[in-house]
Amino acid sequence: MMYTINHLKKMKKNKKKFAALTVYDATFARLLYNQGINVMLVGDSLGMVIQGHNSTLSVTMNDIIYHVNCVKNGAPNCLLLADLPFMSYNNNEQALNNSVKLMKVGANIIKLEVINKQSLDIISYLTKYSIPICGHIGLTPQYVNYLGGYKIQGTYSNDANKLLDYAVFLEQAGVVILLLEYVPEFLAKKITETLKIPVIGIGAGVHTDGQILVLQDVLGITNNIPVFAKNYLDNHINIAISKYIKEVEFGTFPIKNN
Ligand code: KIV
Repeated sequence: MMYTINHLKKMKKNKKKFAALTVYDATFARLLYNQGINVMLVGDSLGMVIQGHNSTLSVTMNDIIYHVNCVKNGAPNCLLLADLPFMSYNNNEQALNNSVKLMKVGANIIKLEVINKQSLDIISYLTKYSIPICGHIGLTPQYVNYLGGYKIQGTYSNDANKLLDYAVFLEQAGVVILLLEYVPEFLAKKITETLKIPVIGIGAGVHTDGQILVLQDVLGITNNIPVFAKNYLDNHINIAISKYIKEVEFGTFPIKNN
């Protein structure tokens, strides 16, 4: 079954929550899809969890294109969001060209981080071309240097009002999904209740329509799991690897054939 934005709209209408995950390769994409994760994101978090950098800033269009291809091969029917990486949407034409590139390789929705009025205008331009957009507000990791760290956003009333205004603007501009990262629960609740479009949260509390986490955080294999994430694997990968090492060392793997 092919998942579309309409499924998420229907779920919001019926007050049903949805779970999404980031994913970067075909094997995990297939596994997640078969387990019922139908909404996936090729996020620029790949700069950290795949490439090992300490931010997302190094990620290029070619990186995202490569991983969108991998994921779509593994889960052709998932609803796939893909990030426009840092500085790949500086003006209308660049944003449009790069969005089209990602859609041509299989992205269904293009996600852009919103930091100021200019990003809002660029998104308005993209929606005029009916590019399905996910606006990402709150903590926007591409602007970690500007924000002065990976800090919760919207705690002061001025900032909270600004984020609410951005959310309303984005819905009116025609974005199809909003992603809220690391904002207080009261603000996420207000935004989720105000908007008709589905709102996905990460570190934004219990009230958003859906939740998203970085796959490697859920598997507990990242170095610094954010406070708002959760390790669901309970060290089983570590156990598997150390068992493999021990079996090779003790000679119990591989098993002799003859
Ligand atoms: O790149 C990413 O993984 C993200 C997260 C907020 C989900 O944007």
